[in-house]
Amino acid sequence: MIKKYVFGTPFVTDSVVADIPADKSALPYFSITSSSPLVLELELSEEDAIYGLGESVRGINKRGFIYKTYCSDDPNHTETTASLYGAHNFIIIEQGERMFGAFFDVPSVITYDVASTYKDKLIITSDNTDMNIFIIDGSSAYDIVRTFRKAIGTSYIPPMWAFGYTQSRWSYATADSVRNVVKNYRGNNIPLDAVYMDIDYMERYKDFTVDSEAFGDLSEFAKEMKEQGIRLVPIIDAGVKIEEGYNVYEEGVKNGYFCTDEEGKPFEACVWPGMTHFPDFLNPEARLWFGEKYKILTDMGIEGFWNDMNEPAIFHTRRGMDKAQEKIKEYSTGEFTIDRLNELKDLFGGLQNSQEDYNSFYHNTPQGRFRHNDLHNLYGYNMTRSAAEELEKTDPNKRYLLFSRASCIGMHRYSGIWTGDNHAWWSHILAELKVMPGLNMCGFLYSGADIGGFNFDCSRDLLLRWLSLGIFTPLMRNHAACGTRNQECYQYENTEDFRHIIELRYRLIPYLYSEYMKAALSGDMYFKPLAFEYPDDKVARHTEDQLLIGNEIMIAPVYTQNAIGRYVYLPEDMTAVRMSCGELTFEDMKSGHHFVEIPENEIVFFIRCGKAIPLCKSAQNTDSLNRDDLELIGTGNEYELYTDDGISKDYNNPSNIRTIRK
Ligand code: GLC
Repeated sequence: MIKKYVFGTPFVTDSVVADIPADKSALPYFSITSSSPLVLELELSEEDAIYGLGESVRGINKRGFIYKTYCSDDPNHTETTASLYGAHNFIIIEQGERMFGAFFDVPSVITYDVASTYKDKLIITSDNTDMNIFIIDGSSAYDIVRTFRKAIGTSYIPPMWAFGYTQSRWSYATADSVRNVVKNYRGNNIPLDAVYMDIDYMERYKDFTVDSEAFGDLSEFAKEMKEQGIRLVPIIDAGVKIEEGYNVYEEGVKNGYFCTDEEGKPFEACVWPGMTHFPDFLNPEARLWFGEKYKILTDMGIEGFWNDMNEPAIFHTRRGMDKAQEKIKEYSTGEFTIDRLNELKDLFGGLQNSQEDYNSFYHNTPQGRFRHNDLHNLYGYNMTRSAAEELEKTDPNKRYLLFSRASCIGMHRYSGIWTGDNHAWWSHILAELKVMPGLNMCGFLYSGADIGGFNFDCSRDLLLRWLSLGIFTPLMRNHAACGTRNQECYQYENTEDFRHIIELRYRLIPYLYSEYMKAALSGDMYFKPLAFEYPDDKVARHTEDQLLIGNEIMIAPVYTQNAIGRYVYLPEDMTAVRMSCGELTFEDMKSGHHFVEIPENEIVFFIRCGKAIPLCKSAQNTDSLNRDDLELIGTGNEYELYTDDGISKDYNNPSNIRTIRK
């Protein structure tokens, strides 16, 4: 059961699609200790758990930290990073027998002190006092998730090819460099479905342009790649370059489609293209206009996009720069002390994504003119919505790949997300594992991290281990920043080790896709914490480095360097499936603790007792998989397979479900 409690006059965010009447009774469970700012408190006992908060650092159980839901372009994903790119205000509170969910529907920042300051208190603070709060009661965590997901609408469903392995880099700056990537993958027989085009494919980073010197005719090139079973996926950034003669810039200015400053002039901020204007995605006309531009690329044969820098990220503005330069002038005479150096460092460091800038531009919405910061978390969401609404019109019965960096609940209906600029750190494998269930609770099913890590150089062992988690994430993309070493699988010795792991992904696609579709269509989770599946098992409840994938399998990836394996907890009897040199072997294991040896070129995952999963044969890409030739493995005798053409949208056709038997 879900109930809505209205505080003040909330901005209509379109996060919730169900029509839920306002409940006039008092907000249950929480005590309101202040009305401005709005402060809600909840007493906790030591065993109580708090789940959710989508894209955020630390554990699956969120206890012990102060989180802020504010879409942030912060590449330092450490234990103390309060906000990442997404703002996901949904939590599940488990207090012994009592369990409920809460969704705080507000477009500006909220702070969650989750038993950090006081070990027995959850304190939620919002300066914005206009908010809808939804309270969801249910008999289990899954039950609460399903009710919530029904209220916020069905999650985005990508085409099946988006479940293939994909390669990215900032940047493959010419068509030839893309050709070279494809040649090497195909030459090494490592399956590959797509190559991403980062900002250098554009003409001076101008959205919806193509550098024809580097890429020739993109339609021709997309066709050439498609013939080799490869899709090209270009990036689109939020900021529109200020340049006379550039049609997107000129149309935006002429029609008033950009966010405005205090004086009503288009707001200027520096991002990759240099000085830009930000499209006002909260203005439905501007949203429509920007969305229509995607057609320029779909007309060239492009079938997928990644939307970036849409928090929106700001490198600096004139205001900030002028202030910093004044200081330099001031300090150009007199002794240059360490204090002055530190002050300048902070001043220059603070130019990026400054709160002063986020407070100094405005949106023109059907609900009035709003300061950006009051609606901040809706920006990336509505950029992506503009793309999705256009793609829906371009071909209503075709699925496109679409994912975004910034997000807010509601955007999950339009696209997936990737988890942004992580590092080539071992701890970031574990961080990825832990963030996935929270994303699923909030509706974001299509997700994954930059495999191998975006920043810094990735070693061979790190890439292998990361791939052994990556083969289970719906979005499976290897991506790296400019200046880092080449990170494609064939850049390392013994490419067959990479081939075997990626081939296993392709063998698993019928299962992974089927579980994804079932989760999307029924509001279920694809990544499940052990705590949700085995709530009465104390060890399982506290095991956060293993996950269930769908209903049949459990994964326990290795995330430490030089490990020969790891301890795995089996909450029930399971069959360990080991992939070694491309061959599968099986071992039935009893519930309990085990040390499982897993060399870096092997994969071990577990099939639950009495369950079976389908495997197909691997192929060079998803289009050439034979999904009818399936083998069932595990101790069960049958599996309920969801299968369709993977591209059209006839999701609920009963013939998509079939039971396959041994
Ligand atoms: C941002 C993105 C990253 C991309 C880079 C250049 O940092 O998060 O994925 O490669 O911009 O476009």
